[in-house]
Parts: sequence; C-alpha cells; structure tokens
Amino acid sequence: MFKVEPVRGLRDVLPPESDFLRVITKKFVDVVRAYGYSEVIPPTIELFELFAAKSGPEISKSMYVFRDKGGREVCLRPELTASVVRMYIKSMLAEPKPVKLFYVGNAFRYEEPQLGRYREFYQMGVELIGDGSLYSDLELFLILRDYYRSLGLTEYSIKVNDVGILRGLFTTWGVSEDVQDLILHYMDKKMYNEAVEVLSKYGNADLNLFNEITNVRTEVPEEILEVSKSLRLPSGVEGIVRRLYEITSLMKSLNVGKFVIDLSFARGLAYYTGLIFEVTVPNLNISIGGGGRYDNLVELYGGPPTPSTGFALGVERTYLALKGLGLTDNLISDEKVMLISLVNDYSYVDRVASTLRDAGYITTVRYVSKGKLSDLVGFASKKGFKYVVLIGEKELIQSKVTVKNLITRWQGELNLSELPQSLGEQ
Ligand code: HAM
Repeated sequence: MFKVEPVRGLRDVLPPESDFLRVITKKFVDVVRAYGYSEVIPPTIELFELFAAKSGPEISKSMYVFRDKGGREVCLRPELTASVVRMYIKSMLAEPKPVKLFYVGNAFRYEEPQLGRYREFYQMGVELIGDGSLYSDLELFLILRDYYRSLGLTEYSIKVNDVGILRGLFTTWGVSEDVQDLILHYMDKKMYNEAVEVLSKYGNADLNLFNEITNVRTEVPEEILEVSKSLRLPSGVEGIVRRLYEITSLMKSLNVGKFVIDLSFARGLAYYTGLIFEVTVPNLNISIGGGGRYDNLVELYGGPPTPSTGFALGVERTYLALKGLGLTDNLISDEKVMLISLVNDYSYVDRVASTLRDAGYITTVRYVSKGKLSDLVGFASKKGFKYVVLIGEKELIQSKVTVKNLITRWQGELNLSELPQSLGEQ
C-alpha cells in the first residue's frame, strides 16, 4: 500500500479552497495589469548562490538545497524577487525604466508547519525595477488598496519602517554590512537582547539612541519628525526619517488603509535597503504580505545601480484572512446549473448546455433515468447549485426546458430561445 498522505508540510489543495485560491490570484492579476505590470514566469529551481547572499539567515536555513544530476548546487526558490532580478539583468537591462513586473508562483521553505505556514506556498507579487521615486513606493500601497478593495477586505493593517534608519546609524557606528544583516535578523525575530549584545561590542554605538529609536511606534506621521528632531539624528538619517514621513503622510491622504510606523520593525530578507512593510489582519498572527525597497540587489548580481521596490502576498494566507473575516461568500458569484436529461439526445442537450455556459452559468450535465431524478435534485441542492434545468421527451419535442430554482423554489417551463435571459429572472 502506498502512503496517501502528502509529504509533511506539503498540502493537497481541494475544492472549495482551490477555487478560492484561483479567484484570489485572478483578482490580483486584474489589478496589477490595470497598473501596467507584465507577467514573468521564473523557473522553480535556481542556483543556490542566487539566494545564498541576501536571503537572510532565517530563509537560508530553510531552503531546499540539493545537487542536480549535473552536479550543480541548486535550490527550490524560497521567494521570487531574486529570480525576477536575475531575469531583469539577463534580458531586460535595455528596457526603458521603470520595468514593471508581476508574478504568481510557488515558493518553498522548510519551516515548521503550522496554520498558514507551509513548506510549499504561493506568492503573488510585483517588482518595480529602476525607479527610486517616492511615487514608486506609494504605488505599491495603491495596488494593495485596490486589490484588497476588490476582495472586500477592509480590516487590514500595514506595518511600515525604513530599514535605512537603523542601517544609517549602524554605518556611522562602524558596523559592517554583514553584522548589520545579523542585527536586523535578530530584530525581525524580536531578539532585542541579542541585537543589543552585538551592538555593545562597538565602542561608537549609542545604545540609548538605539533603544529610543526602536521604541517608536505611532500611527501619526508627524510624530516621527518630532522624534528625529529631539534625538538629533545624523543628517543622512534625518533625511530618511523625512522620507518615511512623506510616504506615510501620502498613505494617509490616499486612504491606503490603517498603518502603524514601527521603527523597531525589520524583515527576514537581507536585501532591503529602504522602506519595508508587512500586512496583517485581525485573528491571524502571521503576515499576509510583505515587501520593500531593495536598491542594491541588481548591482549585487552584477547589474548597474538600479533602485527597486516590490512586494509579495501569500495566496493561502490571503484566503485564510478572508475566511477568518467571513468574506469568502461573495468571492465566487458564479451560478451553478445542474442540467439533467432524461433523454439521450446529446445534440439538443449540448445546445442547451452551450447556451447556458456562454451566458456564464457553470453547467454540469447528467443523463439519468426518471427513477434517479429526485436523488440528483437533492444532490444539486446540497452542493450549492442554484438551478436544475430538466430535459425530458416533452421538452425535447417542444424545444423547451423545465427550470427549477432551488433557492426560491420557483418552477416553470422556458423556451430554448428565451434561455438564458429568462433564467436570470427566475
Ligand atoms: P516574505 O515576507 O518572505 O517576502 O513573503 C511574502 C509573503 O509570502 C508573506 O507575507 C506570506 O504571506 C507568504 N509566505 C511566506 N512564507 C510562507 C509560508 N511558509 N507559508 C505560507 N505563506 C508564506 C518575500 O518573499 C519578498 N520576496 C517580498 C518582496 C517582493 N520584497 C520585495 N519584493
């Protein structure tokens, strides 16, 4: 006997979840295409070295790495940004900037499985390559706003920071980039004591300032300007705080949703250089999306300096968020028809079925004997079908169908020529 369970941490996705995941990605694609983004489809397997440099300790540790039959050290992608940047350098350097790309694809992380944390999951994301403007960051939030609106999701909250603030301070204190990555990793894991311990080895590090900065949490953009003034930050860092103030002020005036500025917030991936953010919803203690600015990644992979920004949303987690908030009901509005034929006239039944499908009804055809009819109507009712459309001898001869609305219980005959307009009225 074969073991029928999937490998630990991996999932079989069945209806209705699979239907919801499809709708969730389709709506995302509709929104990002409306913003002018084009799709890229990177390969699932990449050379390990692509992710080794800047994935951060957490993700590096959880990568599926192996040798292929040619002896190459490869991995299953833990995310898609690095692949998209690689594709950009290989094939799109000559394109006018910014290059606006989106993707929907699976990613793999060997993490401890729990609700919403899987070893294979789907991400849908955008990368805006070659644009360092404030608007490019703002556009990410506008996309989020429009996408969540299309899902009916209003109760989300965005946590924002600019990793340039801490990196700027660390640099003035003489902390190398690698050690900065490590401290930010500790901050991401909420291991503040460990972060302070590393910093305390640097004679120039101002631990009080670090403490003050990382205690700032506010929903009011003006407050971070005040903090910046009162703490007398180095001018470079002050400029970064001002930029964070500007972007969050715009987020407020353009209604991108609730947000909180948290100057202690860091992200697991080590390639971020500027603005970073994560999206959460009530009742789900894991983020449903995250992103930020990565101005050095193209250069790190051998391309020219290219400021870039982007985000990725978890498809399964978006579904869990909608489900938790009771928002899945309106997601799939398709109406289902059970077309039952008591006669074996495949041609007439196909004409009726095609008419219904062309009008957008999801139509299932079943040929049954009279004795099985009531069982099938009961099944249709249980499975959420809205209509039963019946074809018997009489309907066939008169070019008609008998319709039963399973919700209102209306029943009557309709001419084939009246379908499907009349069906919609019943
Ligand atoms: P990330 O925050 O590592 O960012 O992942 C983005 C989203 O993928 C998360 O917010 C979450 O919804 C989903 N996700 C991550 N791990 C899992 C998991 N084990 N199971 C289910 N869902 C998961 C990135 O990957 C960056 N590439 C985002 C980005 C794009 N930054 C700039 N551009």
